[in-house]
Amino acid sequence: MATRSVFGAQWGDEGKGKIIDLWAADTDVIVRYQGGANAGHTVVVDGEKFVLHLLPSGVLQEGKINIIGNGVAIDPTVVLREIDELAERGITIDTKRLRVSANAHVILDTHKQIDNASELWLGAGRIGTTGRGIGPCYADKASRTGLRIGDLIDRERLRSRLAAFLAEKSALLERVHGAEPIALDGVYDRYAAIGERLAPYVGDTGAELRRLAREGKDILFEGAQGAMLDIDHGTYPFVTSSNTGVGGIGPGAGFPPNAIDAAFGVAKAYCTRVGEGPFPSELEGALGEKLRELGNEYGATTGRPRRCGWFDAVAVRYALELNGAAGLVMTNLDVLSGFDEVQVATSYDVEGGASNLTEYPADLTDLARVRPRFESRPGWMADITAVRQYDDLPQAARDYVEWVEREVGVPIVMLSVGPQRDQVIPIATR
Ligand code: GDP
Ligand code: IMO
Ligand code: MG
Repeated sequence: MATRSVFGAQWGDEGKGKIIDLWAADTDVIVRYQGGANAGHTVVVDGEKFVLHLLPSGVLQEGKINIIGNGVAIDPTVVLREIDELAERGITIDTKRLRVSANAHVILDTHKQIDNASELWLGAGRIGTTGRGIGPCYADKASRTGLRIGDLIDRERLRSRLAAFLAEKSALLERVHGAEPIALDGVYDRYAAIGERLAPYVGDTGAELRRLAREGKDILFEGAQGAMLDIDHGTYPFVTSSNTGVGGIGPGAGFPPNAIDAAFGVAKAYCTRVGEGPFPSELEGALGEKLRELGNEYGATTGRPRRCGWFDAVAVRYALELNGAAGLVMTNLDVLSGFDEVQVATSYDVEGGASNLTEYPADLTDLARVRPRFESRPGWMADITAVRQYDDLPQAARDYVEWVEREVGVPIVMLSVGPQRDQVIPIATR
């Protein structure tokens, strides 16, 4: 039995979906434990593209158990839509293939409305959220006013919890945001119907997961977002509202953290970020534009253009250390093929402060004044998308990978050179 975790080691969109789908082939159970439909995990199978928001990225491999754990903020309309969309494409998601935690919090339409209203309220200070209701849902979870998936199934509980919820939210929407109050009946009917459809998938997934572990099954935890978007350890307040790394697994899945054998970070060979907030190695102008075009860097959830920059070794080293990573998977190496010179941010200077910092500054004011020090190496102007063996890569590409490996202090165990399942180069045995 092996229990592995895969997490984003940058600001999200590192290619986690592709790696989870690939590793799901030799795993029995795939578990989402945090985040919600703010995630957009792309998997390409035989040239067919799937973007998964809530269903774990193991759903495209046959015969696997996929779990949406209690720590996920679930928009049940998205879960049902994803099940329907897969059915239209010939993939049946039955109640063996997908399990949903009864204790996961529900994202109601009202959460999405409040998410968008608070972004407007924040104005120039906005976070640039995905508008999927994530922050307001987790806020209600912490305030103990939220609804859980189990509440949708028990009609009496649904009515009473929803009545209390809407009374408070209507006052907020009306008095603070100038919106219309929300009537209980329509919302009750809508979510009661949703609960009825979802019910067969719902259970105590923590107990199910621990039982599967006892039976010796292989388990793969699928992180969403990335370490730099972690609510505690990321670039707060420009973060998401959950613990994105291995720290989120215990509380978010009902699984003992000391039973996780190994964690693997995923990072692109360069760096991207969607939304507002500090991004030290960001490239504005033509180079950033070129990365965006070559990497097709547009959000899988919102379609927003991603901000692009060179690989930030300071940030990734921090992310890997924070999560105790045993290895790193480097994706999108093929995208760097168009550059005659490639750069890496190896340390930071803080304007008016410390110089040559190799540790990620926790303070937002320092972060805003960070000026990265870049080092450069020759690029490789060769198409590497068909390469499958490490030794077949151009020398300059291998030099780049080994340079990054030294900088981040963790072995690079796999390279990805294109979006397709088979476009990988395993290098664990190098
Ligand atoms: P995730 O959120 O971490 O799962 O990543 P996304 O799916 O949001 O974004 C990653 C994008 O890069 C998707 O469009 C993938 O199909 C694509 N992708 C993944 N790996 C590679 C790779 O090695 N090379 C290229 N060019 N694209 C990749
Ligand atoms: P995956 O799993 C990239 C970003 C948003 C915003 C901030 C807060 O596909 O890597 P939220 O809606 O969570 O309140 O937004 O976090 N963000 C992501 N960026 N990939 C993601 O997920 C993201 N999920 C949230 O753009 O800056
Ligand atoms: Mg994504």
